[in-house]
Amino acid sequence: MKLLNTQRLEYRAPGSFEETRYEKLHNVIFNSSIEGSKFIAHTIAGLIEQKQKNNEMCVLGLATGSSPISVYRELVRLHQKEGLSFQNVISFNLDEYYPISKDDIQSYHYFMHIHLFNHVDIKPENIHIPNGELPTDKTRSFCIKYEQKIEAAGGIDIQILGIGRTGHIGFNEPGSHRNSKTRTITLDHLTSYDAAPSFQGIENVPRKAITMGIQTILSAKRVLLMAWGTNKADIINKAIEGVVSSSIPTTYLQLHKNTTLILDNEAASELTRIKAPWLAANCEWDKNLRSKAISWLCRRTGKSILKLTDKDYNDNGMSDLLALHGSSYDLNIEMFNRLQHSITGWPGGKPNSDDKNRPERAIPEKKRVIIFSPHPDDDVISMGGTFDRLVAQGHEVHVAYQTSGNIAVSDQDAKRFLEVTQDILKSDQIKQIEKLNGEFENLNPNNPTPLGICNLKGSIRKGESLGATRYIGIPDDQVHFMNLPFYETGLIDKNPPSQKDLDLTMALIEELKPHQIYAAGDLADPHGTHRVCLNIIFGSLDALKTKSFMKDCWMWLYRGAWHEWEIHEIEMAVPMSPDQVLRKRKAIFYHQSQKDGVMFQGEDKREFWIRAEDRNAETAKKYKDMGLSDYAAIEAFKRYHFL
Ligand code: F6R
Repeated sequence: MKLLNTQRLEYRAPGSFEETRYEKLHNVIFNSSIEGSKFIAHTIAGLIEQKQKNNEMCVLGLATGSSPISVYRELVRLHQKEGLSFQNVISFNLDEYYPISKDDIQSYHYFMHIHLFNHVDIKPENIHIPNGELPTDKTRSFCIKYEQKIEAAGGIDIQILGIGRTGHIGFNEPGSHRNSKTRTITLDHLTSYDAAPSFQGIENVPRKAITMGIQTILSAKRVLLMAWGTNKADIINKAIEGVVSSSIPTTYLQLHKNTTLILDNEAASELTRIKAPWLAANCEWDKNLRSKAISWLCRRTGKSILKLTDKDYNDNGMSDLLALHGSSYDLNIEMFNRLQHSITGWPGGKPNSDDKNRPERAIPEKKRVIIFSPHPDDDVISMGGTFDRLVAQGHEVHVAYQTSGNIAVSDQDAKRFLEVTQDILKSDQIKQIEKLNGEFENLNPNNPTPLGICNLKGSIRKGESLGATRYIGIPDDQVHFMNLPFYETGLIDKNPPSQKDLDLTMALIEELKPHQIYAAGDLADPHGTHRVCLNIIFGSLDALKTKSFMKDCWMWLYRGAWHEWEIHEIEMAVPMSPDQVLRKRKAIFYHQSQKDGVMFQGEDKREFWIRAEDRNAETAKKYKDMGLSDYAAIEAFKRYHFL
């Protein structure tokens, strides 16, 4: 048996042994989900190897969902590139939807084979996954045998877990008992809701699941729970800082002696030691932490910056900050000036003016700008007002739509366009249309959408985008439809980004040599398209950073449709008048396929233009509440320093 380089066994998570107030579950925070996933994969690989040396079997408890995908990717890499063998692995999956066929692409059976089992040398007889195909009267005995098999294998050595927004582990929804074992359970509404996009609608999500119980999980020798992205931040806070309760089943892990939560920065962002670290321990007070603390203090006390008193600082865990700086007066002024200087009506820099205290440089007066937009509408939704100003102020603005966005056009919309085309075509061209119509009839959600239909949908979004960019006033040759290949699967699941995606992005940046790049810094969903698009840009900038034109290139991140930067993070705030808000609304309206009901609505039922307006008005209100000018709306940006 070939053993691996044991260096990996020494892989240590940073800060593993920090003491933390308020926290009842051991956790480690990584800079990214990729780093966290590698840590988990290497921990598993280390145990498999150690057991191999002792001629023992290694029993893994495995999870599905979006969170462990990169863990499995790394395990597959270790198998293919570094000789990690799974011959001594026995696996037990946590759960499976019920009822569901093994061949259904949404089944966890299918998931595990696609992401792991088909690519490693695990023996098929050592794979155990709850069976979603059983008749109802057979499930009970199946569950009892499942428990017996785990016991017979010697118990689970490492159990990996994700966490649902209900706080479920496995599918142990709120109300699950500490002593529960493998059983069938009815899914919580929120869980079905989260699964709805992959099942093409909540009505197609199975109502039940078979899941290992809480006791089954607590019997594992080691538990690693992972959570990535802002969407998990609230529930992670409750799981770590709350008390043990059946209403948040993850809190049961507080009763387990060997559990670690592996988090990325975003999932950890609601923990007290991250959100308000001055309440948890003594702090190193740098400029950013001071801003964070003071905006938090304004919210907490309901006061504007210049009205905060020494007592407010002392009463809220910041007496050491006060001691360092002498008085609230100086701290208040520093924060007020910082916010004041972030506001500018000149996002491309104000010509012929002193730019010492402005977010952007005055020179060059006319800048070349690339706005990267992950989907064909994020540009106007997230920064339509700033886009409009840049154009009005004479900069050469290019928009690069990174993906076609074809998956988000409904079949009904696409067919409507086909009908219009059919009416104006000559009879010899109609065959092509009939072929596409036939493909619509045979669509199967389990198979990729045929290329012709993808192209039709992509071209609908292209037309909408050109409507908006023409309205804002840029020529068509400054609009770039990149159609990055990672997105073009014809399925909701995308491919991992490849060198081709990077090459296309680098080529565009090199050709345009921009002075400013705007990009969606959307970190809410680590596996979502926005995050992938951002990583592709980061990768490209990294490869290009030695080029001389890059010295003059600044990058500004806007947030996507769901979140806004925190006040203390904002480095450029571009205000809008009521009339500018209306222009932005009109630009968003051009994206008709994304108006009214959309395919991927998410939890927020508001239309995109309403979300965008509410968000921009809210940022303006925050500035006003902190004592700054009263604007109708503000778009916010954070600078990213890549050099
Ligand atoms: C999957 C499972 C669930 C998921 C949870 C999070 O086997 O048991 O508990 O871990 O629903 O799902 P994602 O990772 O998709 O957010």
